[in-house]
Amino acid sequence: MDEPAPFEQWLAAQASTVDPFDHIRQASEAHRQQHGAACTVYPTSRAPLWGVVAGAIRANRILEIGTGLGYSALWLAYGAPEANVSTIEVDPDHAALARANVRKAGYANRIKIANTRAIGFLADYDEQVDVIFCDGDLDEYGDYPAHFMRLLRVGGLLITANLFAGWYTPDMPGLDSAIAYRNQTLGDQRLLTTFIGANAISLRIR
Ligand SMILES: C[S@@+](CC[C@H](N)C(=O)[O-])C[C@H]1O[C@@H](n2cnc3c(N)ncnc32)[C@H](O)[C@@H]1O
Ligand SMILES: [Zn+2]
Repeated sequence: MDEPAPFEQWLAAQASTVDPFDHIRQASEAHRQQHGAACTVYPTSRAPLWGVVAGAIRANRILEIGTGLGYSALWLAYGAPEANVSTIEVDPDHAALARANVRKAGYANRIKIANTRAIGFLADYDEQVDVIFCDGDLDEYGDYPAHFMRLLRVGGLLITANLFAGWYTPDMPGLDSAIAYRNQTLGDQRLLTTFIGANAISLRIR
């Protein structure tokens, strides 16, 4: 069931007090509307929750696919004050805007943005991570689980957005890849998976 409207209204009115990065969320929305139809910068409404859970498990190393303009990366770094965040963004304009936002917010020492396609980055990446937030376009999703399971420590969290995007846009490219990802992660006995809204959150238990 959705939250009742009065709560939603109250929360929206508090946004700038309870969310130090609300201006970046708003800038992300504004950017998408003027960048054009191919732009997929949809800042996650759950960024504060991802920050809280990353802090709760005392994350040291966080990996994000899909930086956008940096909203969720900032929340992850804010929530987990001991963590370094590596975030991957394929679009050079997004990466440049995110770098500027991160610098202005004072997090350039803990958030590193790689301007490249995620799958190539993952193939060369070899650090053990505590949290992965997967929030990119769907076309590469089917190839991510093998890398994620190589990198994610036992006790770490894999958070996945966009798995149900096909419900909203049935002709979206990459739906087969998203289904392959869903089947691999849900069928993986090393992961305990549940859902928060349309996001999957998986705890690595073995
Ligand atoms: C939903 S937005 C990310 C929003 C961001 N996580 C936030 O909450 O503020 C998706 C982003 O992923 C980027 N992207 C899409 N596919 C990618 C890929 N294969 N590798 C790296 N970045 C990708 C897009 O350019 C876009 O900026
Ligand atoms: Zn854009």
